[in-house]
Amino acid sequence: MITIRSLFKKKENKEKITMISTYDYISAKLCDQVGIDCILVGDSLGMVFQGKSSTLEVTLEEMIYHTKAVRRGAKEAFVITDMPFMSYHTSLEKALENCGKVIKESGANAVKLEGGEEIAELVYKLVSIGIPVVGHVGFTPQKINTIGGYRVVGKEEEAERVKRDFKILQEAGAFMIVLEAVPLTLAKEITESAKSITIGIGAGPYCDGQVLVFHDLVGLVEDIKPKFVRRYLNGIELFRKALSEFKEDVEKGRFPTEAESYG
Ligand code: KIV
Repeated sequence: MITIRSLFKKKENKEKITMISTYDYISAKLCDQVGIDCILVGDSLGMVFQGKSSTLEVTLEEMIYHTKAVRRGAKEAFVITDMPFMSYHTSLEKALENCGKVIKESGANAVKLEGGEEIAELVYKLVSIGIPVVGHVGFTPQKINTIGGYRVVGKEEEAERVKRDFKILQEAGAFMIVLEAVPLTLAKEITESAKSITIGIGAGPYCDGQVLVFHDLVGLVEDIKPKFVRRYLNGIELFRKALSEFKEDVEKGRFPTEAESYG
């Protein structure tokens, strides 16, 4: 069973940490079978699973629903749930209540929050009551409208803000912090002095670990392919081929055979 302690051991020993963002029982089970350290139930499910144009509409109930499915598949992995947009922004009390609900109902080991200074007090409170927190800085998809679209965050004068957000989260007690779409030199500089575990996505090779979305990795996302995504499988082609073969077999009377039927 992966724990915060075993994750820190890996960081200490300079062993890379692996994380997959996914949303269902079968993919979580596959991740577990090959020994992926952490599964993030990301709010990217709004785009990848639900086909929406951003993560903003995802609800707390949807995150809990998907985390329960993932938890059933993941017996060993450390499971982290993304807190969706506006579930931790209206008041400290409401945010604590919502994070507690996720931990109590879903089986997640930790919650992930996007932001810096504006969530520092919440991070501190959560950690002090026993809820581990993963931070998320750099490009933060819940701020897509103020950031102005998908882009690298942390070039030139923006670098100082990313470093500051990271430091604030680390001091507030976030044990792990995702760096998304930041220049690799910045991610390297942050990681070199970080006490928290750094996990990169579009942040270069020098973080303590890496995360990719399951559907990107197995080649099921056709329309967009950011530079940092490596497709390990042409899933879309394989799935299309299997579905076309099924269609043709049924239409030509080749499926099912008598052997595939009950006597
Ligand atoms: O929602 C998500 O899947 C994420 C990762 C891409 C880090 O936040």
